[in-house]
Order: sequence, then structure tokens, then C-alpha cells
Amino acid sequence: MRVDVVLGPQQLTPAEMNGRVVAVIDVLRASTTIAVALANGARAVIPLESSDEVVQRSKSFERRDVRLAGERRMHAIPGFDFGNSPAEFKRSAVEGKTVLLSTTNGTGTLVSVQGARDVVVASYVNFSAALALLRTAVRGGTDVTLVCAGRERQFSLEDAACAGRYARRVARGLSDAELNDAAVAAELIDRRYGDGLDRLFADSAHGRALAAAGFAADLRVCAEVDAYPVVPIYSDRQITKIGPDRER
Ligand code: MLT
Repeated sequence: MRVDVVLGPQQLTPAEMNGRVVAVIDVLRASTTIAVALANGARAVIPLESSDEVVQRSKSFERRDVRLAGERRMHAIPGFDFGNSPAEFKRSAVEGKTVLLSTTNGTGTLVSVQGARDVVVASYVNFSAALALLRTAVRGGTDVTLVCAGRERQFSLEDAACAGRYARRVARGLSDAELNDAAVAAELIDRRYGDGLDRLFADSAHGRALAAAGFAADLRVCAEVDAYPVVPIYSDRQITKIGPDRER
């Protein structure tokens, strides 16, 4: 079985998606925000590429049922209910609502995944929950691809480290699991930082940019391993969590 890491969505090929279980990783911050919103009871998160699409799509909902969210250059899009800070997606703000979300890298990466058997949104905050789905896939004979959203078409350290942690744990104890070179490199990055996610974020360009822009508190939320144990699945253009109403 293959456990491959793709270090940026622009490198994704059909062979790395078709029939596979694909995990999309944007640790800072879209994957984390999506996990938090669903854990706090959002009905669904709909990833969209542009702010115009968010506004257009919102017209098909009653205003009270929908939340408009997203960022450009890390800051909330003017007129939207929320930016992309996970802490904004509190239960009182999102329970029962559909969140329309557009972010610079994460939502575009999700939308670009085509032909996968399942697409799961993965981060540190839902690490073990998403890992269980990926392990089940590999054990059942399905290849897995871990896609890093990166930052403006560039490599991002935190996504690679998180992908490396998933790759190592997905493949653990499975003698027939084969990793590509990107997965091996990502594992090395994960081993280098271990549980020191504060150091990881301090070394990453996006982590430093978020801190400088006043979002240091977001970094602490994004480092809360397993604090939001949901399995967000992207299917039919929306992300919902696996739960009692949606078993796999
Ligand atoms: C993205 O999708 O590019 C990010 O989540 C950026 C951010 O808001 O930190």
C-alpha cells in the first residue's frame, strides 16, 4: 500500500487522487478552523475559492442559517461574519449553521482534489480521529495521499511536519506500506520537532507572519493536538463530520 505525501497542491497528479483516501492538511489555519467549526456543531462547512462565490452561495440560504467566513492576507474579508481564526467558530456562533469558507490556500486545495474515494480534512487538532480513518483505509488496501496546502504555491514547514506525523503513524507496523520520498522527508521534519509545535510554528514563515499580524493566539489553538476529535469529510462539495448520523 502507498502512503504518499504531496508537498503542494500544484504537484498533485490524478494518480495520487484516483480511488485513494486523500487528506488535505492546512495546519495554519484552514484545516484547524474546519475541524473546530464542525466539532462545535456547524452543520457543514462549504469550501469556496473566492469571496464572490461565498456571497453568491449565501443567497441560497436563509441568512440566519449561514455564516460567511474567510481571510485574505490572514485578515477577515470585509463584511463577513468571521475571518479564519479557529477561536471565532464557537458553539454559540456556529451550532446548526452552514459555514461558507474561502481562504487563500486551504479551501482551494480542497476544491482541487478530484476523483478520490474519500477526502478528509486533517490537522493537529483532529490528529487521532483523522489518523484512524487513514489507518482503516490502508489496512483495507486503499492507498493514501497526504496533501499539504502550502503557502501561496510554496512549501510550508508546518504542513509538511504534520503530514510526516500522519505518514509515520499510518504506516506504523504495516510491512507492505511504501512511502514516497516526500513522505520520508516530511517524517524527518516531524521527528526534528517532535511535540515542540511552538518551535515548529516559530520557525515557519506563516507561523511568524500570523504572530506578527496579531494572531499568536491562533497558533496556540492550532497546536492543541486532539482537542477537536472530528473526522471532517469533503463530499458533494461540502464538509461534514462523520458521526452517528454519518457512519462510514
Ligand atoms: C489558507 O488557507 O491560506 C490559510 O488558512 C491562511 C490563514 O488564514 O492563515
